[in-house]
Amino acid sequence: MTHIDKVFLETFGDTPTIVAAAPGRVNLIGEHIDYSDGFVLPFAIKDRTFAAIRVRDDRKIRIASAQRRNKIIELQLDSVKPGLKGEWERYPLSVVWALGINQGMDIMIDGHVPLGAGLSSSAALECSVATALNHLFSLGFSLEDLARLTQKGENEYVGVPCGIMDQSVSLMAHAGSALLLDCRDLSTRNVSFDVASSGLELLIIDTQAHHSLTDGGYAERRASCESAVSKLKITSLRELSLEQLQQSRTLLNQTEYLRVHHAVTEMTRVLHAVEALEAKDFNLLGQLLNQSHASLRDDYTVSCPELNVAVDAALEAGALGARMVGGGFGGSAIALIHVSQTAQTISTIEKAFAQHHFKAPRFFTSLPSQGAEIIQRA
Ligand code: GLA
Repeated sequence: MTHIDKVFLETFGDTPTIVAAAPGRVNLIGEHIDYSDGFVLPFAIKDRTFAAIRVRDDRKIRIASAQRRNKIIELQLDSVKPGLKGEWERYPLSVVWALGINQGMDIMIDGHVPLGAGLSSSAALECSVATALNHLFSLGFSLEDLARLTQKGENEYVGVPCGIMDQSVSLMAHAGSALLLDCRDLSTRNVSFDVASSGLELLIIDTQAHHSLTDGGYAERRASCESAVSKLKITSLRELSLEQLQQSRTLLNQTEYLRVHHAVTEMTRVLHAVEALEAKDFNLLGQLLNQSHASLRDDYTVSCPELNVAVDAALEAGALGARMVGGGFGGSAIALIHVSQTAQTISTIEKAFAQHHFKAPRFFTSLPSQGAEIIQRA
């Protein structure tokens, strides 16, 4: 009996009918451009969230988490609507709502994606539930449908104005590859991400600094991009070249210009990063990571002191490139480093954090892993 079966049995007194798993993500490059119809290049990490579900023959929903033992949240299916208050269970409930489920269920969550680290633990949670429900009720949704529906749930039910990247990669990723995702139509291409054979690895540095997309900074960035799109009379920033931006600079205010400058240059960097990966040119990839970080720090202003110190210290220790990942304002940074320099890089970053009196960072590494899947079906 697996761990989640055991916890399910102990909590709900029965075994689940379906178990699905979905991973968190790291974004190699292509930050804050998913909501501008850009290309992004994330990969799924090995840490996953599991969702185990059993249908009930009434309209009751019971939810529990292996990380919060002895607490069962119980509610009526008919009360599951945007506006319903709650805590972490709003994420699985947002999926129940967005997928239009019409039956009571017992749901157990076992989450192994580090929380608050900017590694998309919320997308992993949503996508594990969505994958389980899609199979359990034979809903027939495609992965693109599920990405859009889970995003809709997070936007409208939870109230977080996220883009489509995190859910898409959690659902669509393949082991060994980064996922080149076109956020305009959700088409994808797997780009082999094999740094290990070149003696490299991607170090993930969780700064442990506060990170919340609901604080307004994220929504404010999106709003600047949308107002620029309307002033430039285009449908998305994807249509804009750097030359066109320079020519229409006077139509935008300074903040809008800087936000759009980041978006337009980041879209180009993603395509160059794909070329760099295909050519195994990791020095070029490193430079692109550095440029991405500078653009997020200076033009998009979503970095923070902890992220900047992590990036600078990694580079000082010899990283080929480093940058903040995810929404920003805290969370994680990544550094492309020589495997032989891992210990030295970690210690340089730890020392820099101590000197700045920051909370000690956490470190992870992960190879690109598989997207959401059904683990077991009764
Ligand atoms: C968060 C959002 C994503 C994306 C990133 C920034 O992770 O959930 O949709 O916008 O920030 O790239």
